[in-house]
Amino acid sequence: MFFDRPESGELAILVHLDLSHSHTSDDPREFEELVLSAGGDPVELVTGQRARPDAKYFVGTGKVEELQELVRLHSAQLVIFNHTLSPSQERNLEKTLECRVLDRTGLILDIFAQRARTHEGKLQVELAQLHHMSTRLIRGWTHLERQKGGIGMRGPGETQLETDRRLLSVRIKSIESRLEKVRKQRDQGRRSRVRASTPTVSLVGYTNAGKSTLFNRLTNADVYVEDQLFATLDPTMRRIELANIGPTVLADTVGFISHLPHRLVEAFRATLEEAAHSNLLLHVIDVAADDRQTNIEQVEIVLDEINAGELPQLKVYNKLDLLPDQQPRIDRDEAGQPIAVWLSAQSGLGLDLLLQALSECLGQKMVSGQLLLNSEMGRLRGKLYELSVVDQEAFTDEGQYELSISMTEVEFCRLISAESIELKDLEWRGVAPRLGKELEHWQH
Ligand code: GTP
Repeated sequence: MFFDRPESGELAILVHLDLSHSHTSDDPREFEELVLSAGGDPVELVTGQRARPDAKYFVGTGKVEELQELVRLHSAQLVIFNHTLSPSQERNLEKTLECRVLDRTGLILDIFAQRARTHEGKLQVELAQLHHMSTRLIRGWTHLERQKGGIGMRGPGETQLETDRRLLSVRIKSIESRLEKVRKQRDQGRRSRVRASTPTVSLVGYTNAGKSTLFNRLTNADVYVEDQLFATLDPTMRRIELANIGPTVLADTVGFISHLPHRLVEAFRATLEEAAHSNLLLHVIDVAADDRQTNIEQVEIVLDEINAGELPQLKVYNKLDLLPDQQPRIDRDEAGQPIAVWLSAQSGLGLDLLLQALSECLGQKMVSGQLLLNSEMGRLRGKLYELSVVDQEAFTDEGQYELSISMTEVEFCRLISAESIELKDLEWRGVAPRLGKELEHWQH
């Protein structure tokens, strides 16, 4: 099997098994692209089928022998599995194959390590790598190779780690506290944006869908765009001006990928947190991708995981230029609200429709006022804080919390419906905000 070879790179043998007990199967083509993205040079793809992974080697002994031959034949430096290996499987394979073995998590982490640009992104990658390594410290074959770098070996702070678990845990703690600090600073930024009631729109979507291209189009910003997976690791934010809305913050986020190991979802949660606090999500979809529907579902799963599943969403069907005879358009729901825009970020075709749809989606009514809550409504108070919509809080002589809130009508109605609170049970200081049709929709 032949691949487009990069100029240089480690010679790698790729292993992909179809496991009959697993419902999930990561596409081998995407796997190859991931390896190329990491700067590897795939010389062979070994495929096979198994009912379930072998406990010792993940693959069967026949496959191990085949791999041994191939490593020798190609003088390969690396064998990469499109699966998650246990630390002992990785060790056993390294011993037998006499070369480095990397699993899918290690591969993705390596790509993240190369792409992280901001301070926070770098810290997150380092943390995830440290966690990944902490279970894999005792290695036979790789011990001497570690210092040399290469796929799965890059990343900040690598060399000093070696085999000392204690040192590792000290480092993990220090990074966690630095991350906490960076997050707090970002939280403050977010709060001041909320106070200034500047809406935030986040671009989310499967990796390679075209988020950065669209971001550049919308902002004319010079954000790194490349035909590689995960070209974006850190959220990038810019201010744009929207007709009838005014200044709006646009945030680009890291591309999602199917079966991201759970630890990684954890580690990159903060990168995606921006999305969870947005007023609107722009879900960018590559219309030309074969597995378009699966990608959409994968993104929805991750959005649920970061508590952003319920946020208002506008789908952007991108790369329309790759579909024959298609014109840009806005799809609307029964109420006439935009739900999707078909466009080409690259050619700019349909961009005007997206701006129009954005203005329509964001141009919603706001609920602003002083809400009085007694102690039984502590849960609602907590939720309002979680949504970062509380501008100020005071404690009244009657023992009530007085919260100054400002949020969209949709958001407000959704919240009180979810909490099973009736509008008449809410007490406001002064004149209660008028709530229109939205509430009927949410309460019936
Ligand atoms: P990640 O950072 O991996 O999440 O990717 P991304 O979603 O930010 O994608 P990016 O903008 O980097 O685009 C990926 C590839 O798709 C690049 O090669 C773009 O040039 C290409 N692309 C983006 N938009 C379009 C489009 O409208 N039409 C075509 N034909 N290609 C596009």
